[in-house]
Amino acid sequence: MKSELCIGLIGSKFMGRAHSNAWKKAGLFFELPLQPVLQVVCAREQNSLHEFAAQWGWQQIETDWKKVVSSPHVDVVDIALPQHLHYEVALAAAREGKHIFCEKPLAMNTTQAEEMLHVCEQNKVVHYLNHNYRRTPAIAFARRLIDDGKLGRIFHWRSAYQQDWIVDPAFPLTWQLRAETAQAGPQWDLNSHAVDLAHYLVGPITKVSGLTAQFVAERPLADEASSGNLHANALGEAMGKVTVEDAALMMVQFKNGAVGSFEATRFATGRKNALTFEIYGSKGSLKFDLERMNELQFFSSDDGEGCQGFRTIQTTEASHPYAASWWPPGHIIGYEHSFVHAAVDFIRAVASGSSIEPNFASGVQILKVLEAGLESALTQKQVVL
Ligand SMILES: NC(=O)c1ccc[n+]([C@@H]2O[C@H](COP(=O)([O-])OP(=O)(O)OC[C@H]3O[C@@H](n4cnc5c(N)ncnc54)[C@H](O)[C@@H]3O)[C@@H](O)[C@H]2O)c1
Repeated sequence: MKSELCIGLIGSKFMGRAHSNAWKKAGLFFELPLQPVLQVVCAREQNSLHEFAAQWGWQQIETDWKKVVSSPHVDVVDIALPQHLHYEVALAAAREGKHIFCEKPLAMNTTQAEEMLHVCEQNKVVHYLNHNYRRTPAIAFARRLIDDGKLGRIFHWRSAYQQDWIVDPAFPLTWQLRAETAQAGPQWDLNSHAVDLAHYLVGPITKVSGLTAQFVAERPLADEASSGNLHANALGEAMGKVTVEDAALMMVQFKNGAVGSFEATRFATGRKNALTFEIYGSKGSLKFDLERMNELQFFSSDDGEGCQGFRTIQTTEASHPYAASWWPPGHIIGYEHSFVHAAVDFIRAVASGSSIEPNFASGVQILKVLEAGLESALTQKQVVL
């Protein structure tokens, strides 16, 4: 019987490192039905790829992603590429019968996403979309509280995803700031995570109103070889047009009657990776802040009179999702652990032949909301989904 799962990773920078770490750690901390093998890593960084492979333990290197996708030695294609490449690589991988672990946002648009889903279903491959925040213990525990009825009827969702890495107008025009490679700005990059969480915790969205803003219209052209990890060098003096928004806001209605707001920006000076959300229900409320990701704030109106208030739950007890596999209670975990949890659940899904969420179907629903937000910003009309 097969005991290994051979991974072909495409992309070796920010997400390439996060995924390499996840495949390496998964079997060390969790019991797995199949052991991941770091078979081949592919990227454009010809000069540093050998070093990357040696550092992380990848057995082979490649610079042509088509060879990874068609390799008989690869079971899983792990897509850690900018989103304009997700569609082509995922279609080719699914047609080769490879299971797919794909970074978010799923694609450039809903049409691409629907085809990706269709081809995966046709070829019966497991498809996973890496909205990894669902797999922090605090957020998975939030879902458990909601499922147990602790919030009652949900009235409000409120999220803000705030970063500041492009406030400086001298920051160059990297792929994230060009529509042909990124499609959109924080609406795709950041609100995709927030909409995934809102879908996970509150439910489907039916109406969307959007507003976008652009604060810097031109930037120095980027030396693409230096990009990754949100740091980049300018190529020289030449400037290029920024073709995505810098901030994106949405007001939404959920199918269950709740209402919500989403704010996403890369211009919140002082905020590095601040994803916060609040959920208010008839019996209780929740508050989460990624920069304090082990904590979940919970208010329960079941608490006795005079004792009510938001309590801080450290989601590090063995009874909290994923926590038992790490450290004793109170010994906190970090950003990279959500990727390990995703790798673990993905490997288990492949081994058992079951599906995993979020997947490409979730990605289609997320992109519908994001597209509606941009359409509404343009037309200044509410979009009904
Ligand atoms: N889950 C998360 O929280 C999270 C965080 C950051 C980025 N992302 C997503 O991950 C994806 C990758 O982002 P990143 O920040 O790692 O980008 P990056 O710029 O740091 O790295 C991109 C990698 O893709 C490679 N690449 C580009 N074109 C290629 C080609 N034609 N063939 C082979 N390799 C190629 C580059 O060589 C590089 O290794 C994006 O879709 C992004 O939205 C997700």
